[in-house]
Amino acid sequence: MKKRFPDIVYNSVSLIGAIIALIAAELIFFLTVIEFFARNQKPYMGIVTFIILPGILIFGLLLIAYGIFREYKKKKAGKATGKQLPIIDLNNPRQRTAVTFFAFGTVILLAASAVGSFKAYEYTDSDEFCGTLCHTVMKPEYTAYKHSPHSKVGCVQCHIGSGAGWFVRSKISGSYQVYSVLFNKYSRPIPTPIENLRPAQETCEQCHWPKHFYSEKLVKVNHFLPDENNTRSGISMLLKVGGGNSQTGNTYGIHWQMNIANDVWYYASDESRQTIPYVKFINKETKKVKEFITDGFTLTPDKEKQLRKMDCIDCHNRPSHIYNPPDKMINLSMSNGTIDTSLPYMKSMAVQVLEEKYLNTGEAMSRIPVLIKDFYSNHYPELLRQKSSDIDKSIDAIKNIYANNYFPEMNVSWKQFPNNLGHTYSDGCFRCHDNKHFDKEKKSITNDCNSCHTILEQYTPESGSQVSMKGLAYAHPGGLTGNIRNQKCSDCHSHTK
Ligand code: HEC
Ligand code: HEC
Ligand code: HEC
Ligand code: HEC
Ligand code: HEC
Ligand code: HEC
Repeated sequence: MKKRFPDIVYNSVSLIGAIIALIAAELIFFLTVIEFFARNQKPYMGIVTFIILPGILIFGLLLIAYGIFREYKKKKAGKATGKQLPIIDLNNPRQRTAVTFFAFGTVILLAASAVGSFKAYEYTDSDEFCGTLCHTVMKPEYTAYKHSPHSKVGCVQCHIGSGAGWFVRSKISGSYQVYSVLFNKYSRPIPTPIENLRPAQETCEQCHWPKHFYSEKLVKVNHFLPDENNTRSGISMLLKVGGGNSQTGNTYGIHWQMNIANDVWYYASDESRQTIPYVKFINKETKKVKEFITDGFTLTPDKEKQLRKMDCIDCHNRPSHIYNPPDKMINLSMSNGTIDTSLPYMKSMAVQVLEEKYLNTGEAMSRIPVLIKDFYSNHYPELLRQKSSDIDKSIDAIKNIYANNYFPEMNVSWKQFPNNLGHTYSDGCFRCHDNKHFDKEKKSITNDCNSCHTILEQYTPESGSQVSMKGLAYAHPGGLTGNIRNQKCSDCHSHTK
């Protein structure tokens, strides 16, 4: 066989390197073509094609270079010619072929690895990488995300944002996360809030202009009681989102008061920021400061250092991975008809089976139908026969709610991740607006039911239908009497109650 390259290329180490590199290159080419034509993106394929194989390819190339270098040193030691570097003679046709070959090869390789590393970068930023690669770990976030208003916004848009600094930071902390997944060192659930989440100014506010004005938002919900008839009540209210800026028009409402015209600082005594004994309220225009404190709290210098400035995430803490409470989801399914309201005790049963403890999603999927059918066969055997298809349809809807909101493998549900946007199932706004935070004049942060929303219409069987444009006093379903104004809704409706 005619040798095309100089002798020093022909050594066993370089040969092995060449074979490894060639196989890796072929595989990369082959998998890239497959990926190009594949209908569904495959998360694991990306990691092989764009991260593992190129690594092997580079290893092979290094091996070739190392073989040549070793061979060259050996030769030099044998025939001490006194020359420091090999002489390339382009008049020698064999050397010319070799140089041309290497030059072309290097250019093509550089181009290919540029494309390759871009693909690798793109891939580690994709939602599939974030959401599915670590299957069980990110399953709750990924599942909830797919059903959220932000399902078309990438994970990285909120978790990393733009700019090199946060990119590097995220890849460094990401490497630790990959380690913790491989060695099973992660906590279940993943703790929240994220200490080092990128500030909202650099993420949310890149898409949502804080001074944008939103008019009142109509919130209309049906509620069903946990009684035999699943008694319905309903409420329509205008939520005063507001916002705005004085140059373009209206300025009022929740966003204006809490986010634009004023700065709010607070101290939370627990890691999940659910207990807030101290609030400082600064009017941006007049610079007037008001402090609201709960009984028995003093702000030490140590605590003062831990004050947090309120931003979007203190209210919108679940913009994308929302784990809903059972009452909320069953109310929704009953009002849109996916769960049959004519089935006796359906509301109560549905909430109970969702809140049952299961080892994993699989067990929940097989136990839920059994539990519901047992109940009907014990108490309404006739109905189980007559309405079996309606019962089955309702069971499917309940299983669906479970699969999208409960993740027993990761110990994730609404209980570990309260939503702060509201005040029914967790304290939310009432962490501060609870009539227990007072300023120097003994005035509390407002708890007036009409300051954040206006109830336009409500219906309960006890108080009938009521409509008023001025706003109604809330009628609690089920005729709950006594003064519930002195209690928080979450005193009775949160999971600890
Ligand atoms: C609209 C913005 C947004 C998007 C999109 C988003 N997240 Fe988040 N994520 C957040 C915020 C805000 C928090 C912090 C919540 C807190 O501090 O209480 C968070 C928290 C988390 C946490 C910590 C645990 C938890 O649930 O609080 C994980 C894990 C997470 N996100 C993963 C993901 C993954 C995976 C995706 C894509 C499938 C994603 N996120 C998409 C905004 C977002
Ligand atoms: C990459 C752009 C982008 C980023 C970043 C982003 N959002 Fe959004 N957000 C959107 C879009 C688009 C919609 C509208 C979705 C629709 O209506 O279909 C939306 C909708 C919303 C809504 C309305 C939800 C509803 O129920 O209708 C809220 C609230 C919101 N975003 C808050 C946030 C918060 C808080 C953050 C930061 C943690 C954030 N967004 C980050 C693009 C973004
Ligand atoms: C004091 C709490 C609070 C803060 C702080 C806050 N929001 Fe909101 N925001 C709300 C409430 C309450 C709503 C209405 C929620 C609903 O849809 O039920 C809302 C609604 C929204 C909507 C949807 C409006 C619509 O009509 O569909 C967007 C978008 C939004 N907020 C973005 C932001 C962004 C971005 C920030 C930070 C600059 C922010 N919010 C800060 C409480 C807050
Ligand atoms: C960290 C504490 C804190 C949290 C949490 C909080 N607020 Fe506030 N809010 C305040 C303070 C302090 C004021 C100013 C009260 C005053 O000046 O009397 C205020 C004022 C308001 C006002 C103006 C009320 C008026 O009549 O002038 C609105 C509207 C409001 N908040 C909405 C909300 C909503 C909606 C939420 C929940 C999504 C919320 N706030 C959560 C501390 C908080
Ligand atoms: C600090 C602002 C604020 C105050 C004060 C406030 N609310 Fe609300 N309320 C909210 C927000 C925000 C929501 C969530 C709306 C949504 O689900 O989109 C809400 C939701 C509700 C709902 C619907 C609950 C559900 O889950 O279906 C009812 C009912 C309600 N509030 C009653 C009251 C009553 C009664 C009071 C007076 C004791 C009150 N609110 C005071 C901000 C407030
Ligand atoms: C003293 C405890 C208590 C307080 C405080 C309380 N609730 Fe309730 N709530 C109940 C009970 C108990 C039921 C079930 C009623 C029944 O079975 O007749 C209920 C039922 C409901 C329902 C209908 C069932 C459902 O899950 O949809 C809604 C809606 C509701 N409450 C909203 C609220 C709101 C909003 C507040 C705060 C303004 C509040 N509750 C305060 C005890 C309370």
